[in-house]
Amino acid sequence: MKTRKGILLAGGSGSRLHPVTKIISKQILPLYDKPMIYYSLSVLMMAGIRDIMIISTPRDIKFFENLFGKGKDLGISISYAIQKRPKGIAQALIIADDFIGKSQIALMLGDNFFYGNNLEQILISTSKKNISTIFAYEVKDPTRYGIISCDKSGIPNKILEKPKKPKSNFAVTGLYFFENIAIKVAKSLAPSKRGELEITDVNKFFLKQKKLNVEYLSRGFAWLDTGTFESFFEASQLIKTIENRQGIKIGCLEEISLNKGWIKNSDLKSIIKSLGKSTYADYLKKINNKR
Ligand code: DAU
Repeated sequence: MKTRKGILLAGGSGSRLHPVTKIISKQILPLYDKPMIYYSLSVLMMAGIRDIMIISTPRDIKFFENLFGKGKDLGISISYAIQKRPKGIAQALIIADDFIGKSQIALMLGDNFFYGNNLEQILISTSKKNISTIFAYEVKDPTRYGIISCDKSGIPNKILEKPKKPKSNFAVTGLYFFENIAIKVAKSLAPSKRGELEITDVNKFFLKQKKLNVEYLSRGFAWLDTGTFESFFEASQLIKTIENRQGIKIGCLEEISLNKGWIKNSDLKSIIKSLGKSTYADYLKKINNKR
């Protein structure tokens, strides 16, 4: 099996969250009790990916470096790269070219939130597949997303970016498992009308080649793209409700690492100390005592 490396794209202008994001990265803002990027990083980690590159703006990259360092506390390896200007999601594939090398790719958008039953198993099994895979999720407002539609026999045949007249309600979510050739595809793209290298064009390439697997996330799942104040608030509420009801934490990176055997209980001690009086520290103490 080929190795798979992760790219976490956490740049962009965040203009829909102005004035807040005029001075700070969107992906650092808290979704309830932890920075937004924790949730997207947790998805890559749940998939079993330990070698990850975070890409952000020249202004914001230092926040992530300060937050995660080289990833040692999480038992993973994190490297960093800059996207000078937000020229499209597919540009991340070009920026990460050397880092990816010959590996397969998982590209995750830093503002996407996934939660649902069996998510970890779905991610692990998808990551093992040797075919490019995207995840589709039914939404009420399909004009906001990349939309995938099917022919009469139910076979996906079209993906359109923010269609004015959507042919379906199935949005393409911001998590893409690509074969290595996606880098070459990204390099061959011309910018779209909005001046970006579109990830939808990479998906279209695989669809045309009949080499695109589509996983439909069922209605029991929550997928939110937290790029607006509305969805930001909704995601925070959802996290708060589940965490308070069950006494668990969503997106707790150290817990994922412990479960995967990437760090040991003894490693948690200094991490807990560094987290002060936070509820996050309390939670880590709790899981540490349980083991
Ligand atoms: O969230 C899923 C959707 O993400 C997909 O359905 C669409 O097909 C895909 O194009 C994308 O649509 P958005 O309009 O939501 O993309 P947005 O420009 O908001 O960028 C998504 C995230 O990626 C955001 O957190 C900022 C970051 N980004 C974006 C661009 C264009 C970058 O870091 N660099 C960029 O150049």
